[in-house]
Amino acid sequence: MSTTDDERPAFEWETRFRDNDTPWERGDLHPAARMWMDQGVLAAGKSVVIPGCGRCPEVAAFARAGLKVIAADLSDTAMAWQKSIFLKEKLSGEFIEGDILRPGDQRWYPEDPVDLVYDQTFLCAIPPRLREHYVYGLTHCWMKPGGQYLALFMQKEERGGPPYGCPLDAMRELFSDRFWIWPEDEDFIDIPHPSLNGKPELAGVLTRR
Ligand SMILES: C[S@@+](CC[C@H](N)C(=O)[O-])C[C@H]1O[C@@H](n2cnc3c(N)ncnc32)[C@H](O)[C@@H]1O
Repeated sequence: MSTTDDERPAFEWETRFRDNDTPWERGDLHPAARMWMDQGVLAAGKSVVIPGCGRCPEVAAFARAGLKVIAADLSDTAMAWQKSIFLKEKLSGEFIEGDILRPGDQRWYPEDPVDLVYDQTFLCAIPPRLREHYVYGLTHCWMKPGGQYLALFMQKEERGGPPYGCPLDAMRELFSDRFWIWPEDEDFIDIPHPSLNGKPELAGVLTRR
């Protein structure tokens, strides 16, 4: 993969997990995940993709809550961590190991379109040049009509990354009105990250038309 100075090469994610150098990890469920579980947005029986799941505890939490979980990541270490929990607790889920943003014919998408995509620090982690490719896949290959993208848009002013900033105006261009029903700006909930210098994430639900 070619990179610019602003980008972190793909292999470094694995190194970060091996070195436990993972400041994006919350160590607990995201408050927005708890809220969406309480509200029944993340409900038993629904299918959910968690792209770039890393070691986030939401993967097992959603499986325990009865969702059909598809968790994807290119880090072997992170995937082994997730699988060990599933094995220990006899949970069921599908694990996709590898790059889910492969170009062209190699593009990954779920076998059957899903109800939900839970994106926790994935969109803000990938190089911005891959955003359109990712969102095209979400829009046309991943989601059922009426499916929901559970967004946690990272707010960040300074250049470079990851994380890369996801301002709402840029997100509105990326997830176009033609395909997505948007909440009002004021309906997004501002949740600061406990590390990452307290950068705010805007939690909101976008619905595929
Ligand atoms: C900032 S971390 C977030 C991890 C997890 N969602 C969390 O919140 O703790 C970004 C994750 O995306 C994964 N990732 C980055 N690019 C990827 C790609 N093209 N395909 C699959 N996973 C990818 C990395 O390995 C890493 O685990």
